[in-house]
Amino acid sequence: MTTRRFPQGFLWGSATAAFQIEGATREDGRGESIWDRFCATPGKVLNGDTGDPACDHYHRWRDDITLMKSLGLQAYRFSIAWPRIIPQGRGQVNPAGLDFYDRLVDGLLDAGIRPFVTLYHWDLPQALEDAGGWPARDTASAFADYADVVVRRLGDRVKHWITLNEPWCSAFLGYWTGDHAPGVREGPVLAAAHHLLLGHGLALAALRAAYPDVQAGITLNFSPADPASDSDADRAAAWRYDGFFNRWYLDPLYRGTYPEDMLQLYARLGQTPPVQPDDMRIIAVPMDFLGVNYYSRAVIRDDPQAGGLRYAHERPEGEYTHMDWEVHPDSLRRLLERLHAEYAPGVLYITENGAAYPDEIAPDGGVHDPDRIRYIARHLVACHDAITAGVPLRGYFVWSLMDNFEWAFGYSRRFGIIYVDYATQRRILKDSALFMRQVIAANAVEEG
Ligand code: FCB
Repeated sequence: MTTRRFPQGFLWGSATAAFQIEGATREDGRGESIWDRFCATPGKVLNGDTGDPACDHYHRWRDDITLMKSLGLQAYRFSIAWPRIIPQGRGQVNPAGLDFYDRLVDGLLDAGIRPFVTLYHWDLPQALEDAGGWPARDTASAFADYADVVVRRLGDRVKHWITLNEPWCSAFLGYWTGDHAPGVREGPVLAAAHHLLLGHGLALAALRAAYPDVQAGITLNFSPADPASDSDADRAAAWRYDGFFNRWYLDPLYRGTYPEDMLQLYARLGQTPPVQPDDMRIIAVPMDFLGVNYYSRAVIRDDPQAGGLRYAHERPEGEYTHMDWEVHPDSLRRLLERLHAEYAPGVLYITENGAAYPDEIAPDGGVHDPDRIRYIARHLVACHDAITAGVPLRGYFVWSLMDNFEWAFGYSRRFGIIYVDYATQRRILKDSALFMRQVIAANAVEEG
């Protein structure tokens, strides 16, 4: 056993998102979001699950803060529901929505927990979707207006802001595969992605205009791509996948251009991002940090039969979580080192990392989740390796504080370090929560 000690000041947090935990979807003037509509559409979400009751966090937030505090968590990443703040997406502001987050922020600060606010974790107001959604350019400016409203209310106390969570998911799952809201298949995905990035840049400017001292960044999800074999064809396929998943977002943000190889590939498929003069400059405005969400890698082979980018996923032997995602911590280390070497964000945070397992309450009343503990411990070792290699990684937010609504999987996938009994809303600390408490107290993880 070796002890891996983290640098002093390394920030330990947990993460959630509004739609996944709040419930109360019709309370206090909240408008409809694309996820409410999607859940109400038969066949879209497993078991017909919806955003209610979720974790009823809208009413139980005080208790949830008490739980965070009991674990020693130092930071909390949560998202703000745009439809609570501006129910129709633009125009009329709903004061009750702002009041809710205002109280939450004060509660966190009273408990000594630093708030990290995500402005957009996928719950677009349905009214904006009806007006064209992210493929429409106007949605980017509506997002910046919303950011302005929120920062003016909370920016005196909230100093860490994340504009978007995982724009790849919003664009690709929302407007191409249709697996996520708004459920559009083979839609204008590059327009959606571009307007998300543009919205990020405009929102960043709004945040800084209101409070120049804020730290602002974006959260991207990464899927490092390994070729299934050493063949040139598989290597090229893995590079295309990397372009589609990772570089399509990194390059605009850090280099002010879309990757040339991908532009050419997409052009051959008849697709071009709708870039207007100045857009790339707005998108590439330097950020204070990069948020990294990492769960697994992809193993990719060339597949001339497949349409589009002509790749296929391989499923290597290994350990898998309940999501059927391979457990591969070393890919996190390599990802962090690559980001540092090629894009050099000044500061990085792991804004999500964690795993779903089919947890149950044991006869002794506990929830014993050794697989999750191992998953987290091994990924923390990977983080530690990256820090040792010089990566400016400053914090780790476990996904998630508690079991919650896992999008198209409904309540069937449990990612929490706290178990939620949805029928009674009772919370039970899983063994992994007790493990996190130890890690935080020691600022270290034991390897082996
Ligand atoms: C990420 C999402 C988060 C959660 C995890 C499991 O893609 O950001 O909301 O669902 O996956």
